[in-house]
Amino acid sequence: MTQTLILLFHPDLSRSRANAALARVAARLPGTEVVDMQARFPDGLDMARDAEAEAARLIAAERLVLQFPLHWYAPPPLLQSWQAAVLTRMMYLLSDTEGARLAGKPFRLAVTTGGTADAYRNGGRNLFPITEILAPLRATANRCGLTWSRPFVLHDADGLSEGQLEAAARNYAADLTAWQAESLPVSAEA
Ligand SMILES: Cc1cc2nc3c(=O)[nH]c(=O)nc-3n(C[C@H](O)[C@H](O)[C@H](O)COP(=O)(O)O)c2cc1C
Repeated sequence: MTQTLILLFHPDLSRSRANAALARVAARLPGTEVVDMQARFPDGLDMARDAEAEAARLIAAERLVLQFPLHWYAPPPLLQSWQAAVLTRMMYLLSDTEGARLAGKPFRLAVTTGGTADAYRNGGRNLFPITEILAPLRATANRCGLTWSRPFVLHDADGLSEGQLEAAARNYAADLTAWQAESLPVSAEA
């Protein structure tokens, strides 16, 4: 069974440097599955047809991570399509049988940005802290009853040397491992 499910929303992983590096190390962690959602749904419209299977995948996982590059201060549009197809089904159409089964599941975001950490502060080049830019996803997690944890954020993703990127990927693996250890699955907490 997948213990940690990482849904990766990158419009073209073959052109990715940062998310590809993070996904490679994460996929090697025990009990961790990384799904390239763009490869799975090259035409986002198929997602509505597969919403039942996608919902089942979420219910089966013990923990959920949404990983993506920040594009125009938001996740790539495929993530919105996923929310519209899968979360609408689970939370609005089948809330008792499906949505309720997300309650308490540990959840976090893993985000890469081109902007530096310094640009993401009040009054900085990007005006707002990254936590404010990610607030709609925090509200979504809250609406779904998911248990929010501090996001993993990799800033300046386009400016990192190979060595810095490798170090960042190691940090991601360590951060996920610590989170896996501290966030007990719902069934174990009951
Ligand atoms: C269309 C587009 C929009 C972007 N918008 C932002 C943005 O709003 N803020 C930011 O910090 N970086 C932005 N970037 C930079 C990406 O976040 C960065 O290239 C990405 O995180 C690197 O990850 P990757 O190598 O996996 O693609 C944008 C990049 C593209 C291509």
